[in-house]
Amino acid sequence: MTVITNIEDLRVLAKRRVPRMFYDYADSGSWTESTYRSNVTEFGKIRFRQRVAVDIDERTIRAKMLGQEVAMPVAIAPTGLTGMQHADGEILGARAAAKFGVPFTLSTMSICSLEDIKQHVGSPFWFQLYVMRDREFIGRLIDRAKAAGCSALMVTLDLQIIGQRHKDLKNGLSAPPKLTPANILNMMTKPGWCMGMLGTSRRQFGNIHGHVKGVEDMGSLSEWTAKQFDPRLNWNDIEWIKQRWGGKLILKGVLDAEDARLAVGTGADVIIVSNHGGRQLDGAPSSIEALPAIVDAVGDKIEVWMDGGIRSGQDVLRAWALGARGTMIGRAFLYGLGAMGEAGVTKALEIIAKELDLTMAFCGKRRLADVDRGILLRREA
Ligand code: GLV
Repeated sequence: MTVITNIEDLRVLAKRRVPRMFYDYADSGSWTESTYRSNVTEFGKIRFRQRVAVDIDERTIRAKMLGQEVAMPVAIAPTGLTGMQHADGEILGARAAAKFGVPFTLSTMSICSLEDIKQHVGSPFWFQLYVMRDREFIGRLIDRAKAAGCSALMVTLDLQIIGQRHKDLKNGLSAPPKLTPANILNMMTKPGWCMGMLGTSRRQFGNIHGHVKGVEDMGSLSEWTAKQFDPRLNWNDIEWIKQRWGGKLILKGVLDAEDARLAVGTGADVIIVSNHGGRQLDGAPSSIEALPAIVDAVGDKIEVWMDGGIRSGQDVLRAWALGARGTMIGRAFLYGLGAMGEAGVTKALEIIAKELDLTMAFCGKRRLADVDRGILLRREA
């Protein structure tokens, strides 16, 4: 087996191991995918100032996110259908994160349920909430997150409607996958994945299945989402969610400074600059481009994090230098998971941590608290 040295190696391996329908689901953006691509390419344009002959012994990349000590300022982002990238994917991801010392966020649209993670992982985790039309269900979901010991609630604001992802429609994405001839043929080339799936009973949306009448499985993702997700979501809803939850609140999906100010007004603890991995409004700015203006607008009032396009520890450092006090990885996590299960997630975290540490050192810094925009050169056009 080839030696895995970077996130791209994990992506290549995941593509080989995961059925096309689910690999494509993870690895695509909406419409022309321009925002999806720019999340990565804009990071690449940000250059570092290399410094030399500075004492860079005894370094640390430890930080705090939401007051919580973390091994590095990187959390696992909530990603839908994670348990379809690898059997029991959310349990494996949460375990790897807990052992590494970074937060794990469980998606509303996960395969393993809140209760599964509590039972099989044990460490506190975060829960991401999508607001659906059935507010009673949402209320119960918030209560279940409390009962599962979740230490923060992350409300996603940018998916009231779904951005069209061509591949999902073409592949007929569903969970569990429909056994069409094309899907069967494709799955026959993924024996490891099939064995894993045969060995688990978790193949539906664990947080939803059996908890909402009439929602048994997901026919087509886009149709299902159009029916369930609430396009009426607005700032007033955040108030009742906050009340019902009563704990730390993270708002995800802010790209505009005006929205950032409104988000601060809700009394949330954190906002996440995010374009949903380029999966929603194609043509919106990359997250790293949007970050500085939001930090300038509200960075002294609220903790600002970002996600979208992080494929290395260099990217984490770039985001930190531009004012993000936390980052999240979605695809980098899923590539690791799809490639090698729990060991692959650990590998992804190790790769990012090492790159972050070495890059910080090359910039002449020994700890993140000393890193600011001064480690960066001007951005190229
Ligand atoms: C959300 O669940 C997505 O598919 O981006």
